[in-house]
Amino acid sequence: AAVGKGNYRHFMEKELHEHPAVLGDTLRQYLDPGTLEVRLPRLPFDPAKVPRLTLTACGSAFLAAHVGRYWIEKLARIPCDADVASELRYRDPPLPEGGAAILVSQSGETADTMAALKLLKEGGQKVLSIVNVPESTMARSSDAALLTVAGPEVGVASTKAFTAQLAVLACLAVGFGRARKQISQVDEGRLTQALLSVPSFAAEILDRDAEIRALAAEVAKARDVLFLGRGSLFPIALEGALKLKEISYIHAEGYAAGEMKHGPIALIDSAVPVIALCPSGPLFEKTCSNLQEAAARGGRVMAFTDAQGAPALRRFAEHVIELPTVGAFSAPILHAIPVQLLAYHVAVLKGTDVDQPRNLAKSVTVE
Ligand code: G6P
Repeated sequence: AAVGKGNYRHFMEKELHEHPAVLGDTLRQYLDPGTLEVRLPRLPFDPAKVPRLTLTACGSAFLAAHVGRYWIEKLARIPCDADVASELRYRDPPLPEGGAAILVSQSGETADTMAALKLLKEGGQKVLSIVNVPESTMARSSDAALLTVAGPEVGVASTKAFTAQLAVLACLAVGFGRARKQISQVDEGRLTQALLSVPSFAAEILDRDAEIRALAAEVAKARDVLFLGRGSLFPIALEGALKLKEISYIHAEGYAAGEMKHGPIALIDSAVPVIALCPSGPLFEKTCSNLQEAAARGGRVMAFTDAQGAPALRRFAEHVIELPTVGAFSAPILHAIPVQLLAYHVAVLKGTDVDQPRNLAKSVTVE
C-alpha cells in the first residue's frame, strides 16, 4: 500500500516523528526487556573468535557504521575497520582468515555496498548485513541479515532508518561484548536499560521542535556551517553536516572537535555557526575548550548538551539546547535526531524540495 504523509508537510517530517516508534520496534527485536539481555539471532560468525570486523556502507548508513565501530571496539574489543564502500575495494585491504563484515543499508540495493559485499565474500569474509528491506538484494546475498524495523522511508535523506541502524549496531556491540566476556551481566543490564530508554528520550527531543526551529532560523542565514563532535559523536557531527548539505544546500562540514585547530579554525568568523554536540561526560571538558577557542575567534557557537553541560557552555555560546541527560552509550542515537530536525527546518526555511533534493536519489544503483 502507498504510504501517505498524514498530517505532516513532508515525508521527512513524518519520518522524523516516527523515531520513538521505530526505535522501540527495532530495539524490541534484539533486546529482552524482562531479563535486560541482548537477544541476537544466529550469526554467520562467532563474535567470541572473530579476529577483525570490516564495517562498510554509503552515505548516512556509513556514518551509522562509523558509530558502530566506536561501540564495538569499546564494548567488545574487536578491532574494526570502517570504510565507505566505494573506497574499500581500492584500498585492497588484507582481509583476515576467519574475518567477518557488517554491511549497513536502508534499501539493500546500493551498488557500491553490493560491490563491497562481493569483494568481502571473495576474500572469505562472512557477511552480516543490517538492512531495512528484507527482500532486498543485499539481504538475500548476505550470510545473514538483521532487520531495522523502520518501515518504508520515502524522504530521500535518511532519518528513522539511520537511527534504527544505530539501534541494531548498539545491540550487536553489547552482544559481542558479552560473547567476548568484555562486559559483565550487570554492564549488559545497564546498557540494555539505557537502550530501552531511548524511545522515550527521542519523544522528549522531538518536543523541543520549537527551540530547534529557532536555531534553524539562525543557521538558515549562513553560507557555511561547521559541526563538531568527539568520540562516538564525531560521526553524528558528520551526519549533521551531511543532512544540512543534502537538503538545504548550505555548505557544511563535520569535524572531530579536537581536529578543528588543525584546519577549519582558519575559516571561523562571526558568519560561521559552529554547531557542537557536547553532552556532559568524560569528553566534555576538552570539547568545551575547543569551542571556547572558536568563540574567541568570533565563531557563533550553538551547542547541544544536557543540564550538567549547559552552564559552562552558556558562558560563551550563542545558543545552548539542553537535551535529556542520557549517558555516553546512547548519546549518538539521541543526538542524531536534533541534527536531522535542524536540517529539516533549515531546508523548509530555504524553500527547498525537502523530500526530493536536487541531484540525489533514495537508492543509488550505479557505482
Ligand atoms: C543515498 C541516500 C542516502 C543514503 C545512501 C545509502 O545517497 O540519499 O540517504 O544514506 O544512499 O543508501 P542505503 O540504502 O544503502 O542506506
